[in-house]
Amino acid sequence: MTGAAPPIARLQGFGWRPLGRKQQVIADLDLTVAPGERVLLAGGSGAGKSTVLRAFAGALGTTVAGDLSGRVEVDGPAGLLLQNPADSLVAATIGREVAFGPENLSLPREQIWSRVHECLDAVGLRYPTARSTAALSGGELQRLALAGVLAVRPGLLLLDEPTSMLDDETATTVREAIVRAAESTGAAMLVVEHRIGPWLPHVDRVVVLERGAVIADTTSDAFVRTEHERMLRAGVWMPGAVAPAPLDVPAELVAADSPGADLDADSITVDLELRTLRGTVRTRALEHTSARLAAGAITALTGPSGAGKSTLLAALAGLQPLSAGTITGAQPPFSRRRSRQLAAASGWAPQNPEHGFLARTVRDEISLTAGKLGRRVDVDALLELIGLSDLGGANPYQLSGGEQRRVALVAALAHRPAAMFLDEPTVGQDRQTWAAVAGWCAAAAAAGATVAVATHDTDLIALADTEIAVARRQAAA
Ligand SMILES: Nc1ncnc2c1ncn2[C@@H]1O[C@H](COP(=O)(O)OP(=O)(O)O)[C@@H](O)[C@H]1O
Ligand SMILES: [Mg+2]
Repeated sequence: MTGAAPPIARLQGFGWRPLGRKQQVIADLDLTVAPGERVLLAGGSGAGKSTVLRAFAGALGTTVAGDLSGRVEVDGPAGLLLQNPADSLVAATIGREVAFGPENLSLPREQIWSRVHECLDAVGLRYPTARSTAALSGGELQRLALAGVLAVRPGLLLLDEPTSMLDDETATTVREAIVRAAESTGAAMLVVEHRIGPWLPHVDRVVVLERGAVIADTTSDAFVRTEHERMLRAGVWMPGAVAPAPLDVPAELVAADSPGADLDADSITVDLELRTLRGTVRTRALEHTSARLAAGAITALTGPSGAGKSTLLAALAGLQPLSAGTITGAQPPFSRRRSRQLAAASGWAPQNPEHGFLARTVRDEISLTAGKLGRRVDVDALLELIGLSDLGGANPYQLSGGEQRRVALVAALAHRPAAMFLDEPTVGQDRQTWAAVAGWCAAAAAAGATVAVATHDTDLIALADTEIAVARRQAAA
């Protein structure tokens, strides 16, 4: 957009070198957002999308260490919404959660609470303000986080893959809430997402980054009409394009010494203990759920946010105690093994990999488990496979979200376990990195492994041999 109105946000000659990196990850970038403009920011995993959002949110050089060059200008407060709904929670009740931002602005009490009600309304959360945040589903949590962002009246909404952790239906409610909020407040919006299709009707403009540089910047109509082929080559999930073929991963990188076992969960019930500010709450995550994972196949565990996919995956992996039911197949059962014996046979990649890294470098993280088990790993080949050849020396905590997920995946699988339990393994991936992750799953299954993925990704589900839909229990609480 051009015209006389001064921009609400502008990067001029912007560069960023994170602490610990030799080179800038973004150099000399110019980007302008007009008031009220809605921009979709796309691009490969690690291209710099989140960095741009953090720049506008004022986080670079303050909460995130590194060298900033050039200029970052934002007119008024910006509000940042992250990918994972649970990450942004600060309070025990939904009212206090939304009040948090306005309280930090030191607004008068009545004004704070009128904003709380207004913003909860704007995102369609019609619960009493005293409702516990622990009693919300993933989609509700994401809308709550959005209400919290809106409550500071930002002129610029920054949204970092806000629907990537959600099932389609929940994603739609969150997306609609975001679009409605942008419309009613007149805020400009900069939204990052890999699956761009559903956003295109709601944005004015599409900007695509590759290695920190803009490779496309055009209206959403022109983008789809003129850029299709070029963007597919750049790894962008263009709407309507079929998924890429899974990468042909060499069997010697993934094949276990011995074949996997069929695993049978028979009518299992799982109760989780959630720690909240007000003490421990027990919730029933699964009740009389059955599932069978066949060796030599990929099984996709699907279902809405909050249905219990991750819990089922963890239970099958022997990491989650059961209140009732049995899991049979592995001998001895995974749940009775000591950690070393379990690790030898099984690979586990959790939903939030960024919380679990143990080593100082990507290279060490990837060879850690294999090293303890005395198995040899070709780290260079693995890094290349997942597109991280340049980042072997980087700190795993200092990577983009999609990069971290790939590191966690390879760290869990490098020792070639015969059973794999992967929670949302394709979140944050562009087409190329998706093909590597999908190829790994396919090659391991072809080599006899028992592969289970909990996922919302319809392309990954299509690749699976079996889909097990986990149904949401009637909302407790
Ligand atoms: N906390 C961090 N510390 C150091 N480098 C980082 C950090 N977060 C991301 N990076 C690096 O900055 C580059 C851009 O990352 P990011 O903006 O997160 O990418 P995107 O959001 O497009 O996936 C990548 O090379 C990534 O490894
Ligand atoms: Mg990112």
